[in-house]
Amino acid sequence: MSKLAKSTFPFTGAQPPLTPSERRTVPSRDEVITFFKTHERVSWSLTELLEIPWTSIDVDALTPADIFVAESALLVESNSPDYVANLIEYYKADQDICDFIMMWAIEEWKHYYVLADYMTKVRTALAARAANGGGCNVTELAAAIRQDLGDDVDDVRAKSAENWGIPPHYLPAQLVASTSLQEFVTAEFYRNHAQRTKEPVLANIENLLAKDETRHEMFYEERLKNCLERDPDVMSAVVAALKEFGMPGAYLLNDYEKRRSAMEAAAFPTLGSKRDAFVRLFAKVERMIGRANAMRVFTEGNYLSDGVDDPSRKKMKPELITRMITRKLSA
Ligand SMILES: [Fe+2]
Ligand SMILES: [Fe+2]
Repeated sequence: MSKLAKSTFPFTGAQPPLTPSERRTVPSRDEVITFFKTHERVSWSLTELLEIPWTSIDVDALTPADIFVAESALLVESNSPDYVANLIEYYKADQDICDFIMMWAIEEWKHYYVLADYMTKVRTALAARAANGGGCNVTELAAAIRQDLGDDVDDVRAKSAENWGIPPHYLPAQLVASTSLQEFVTAEFYRNHAQRTKEPVLANIENLLAKDETRHEMFYEERLKNCLERDPDVMSAVVAALKEFGMPGAYLLNDYEKRRSAMEAAAFPTLGSKRDAFVRLFAKVERMIGRANAMRVFTEGNYLSDGVDDPSRKKMKPELITRMITRKLSA
């Protein structure tokens, strides 16, 4: 059964639907132009990455976990067209943010395409190695590759047409808070997995993607600041949205839990790296909404269940959070 069928997100459903004019956020024209100038200055060349030959992929350094991780990231990145369509619809009364979304969309499409290209090269490299008598891990790696990735992409896009993760009644402040956090987590994942993988082509791609995701994260974070400055009363709605936050994979991928834990293990394999990741996550949320509200998000939210209502009612304890943060600070 698909994850979608069983998980209707709790979302702050008591809020009335918004009219298009109530969905205006957001940036000034200058901020959109600034984003574009940075985009031009720091953009990496997709052409250059596509031209990297499959022979550059170090098959001996690759692990089944690397393959699983690259595939999972590719699948989540593949739904960008639907995400863009929904964002444009949401913000249609706001020309400036629609302009931003067009630029953001190009960057997200590059992420999908470069990962899809990488997987094709991995297949070619493995087939060549197998034809030459194989190697210690070729059979294992070949078995790890999904044979019907194209169908999986279709499936993801069908799901995102039904549920793109942001309910229409979300206030702009809730939307940008949620999106900023999503971009942050994605950047963290790419950056940390890039440090762990031994395969240099994949590490290079992930480092480039992480930088893009961080620029996205910061753009949305600035917009949240604008929303809160303009109307501090939306803070409680923002806290509610962050309490029910979940990554898009949770409603897009059938085997999300398996993929999520594989990605977590590959990017944050040790207890120390998990703790450090949490400390950075807490700092991010604290920067967005302040320390007291961040504590509420983590202790009251469905954090351990990716936004889905958790019948086990597992919650983080405030003492645990404090201990993790202060340990880091005193280290
Ligand atoms: Fe991306
Ligand atoms: Fe992004």
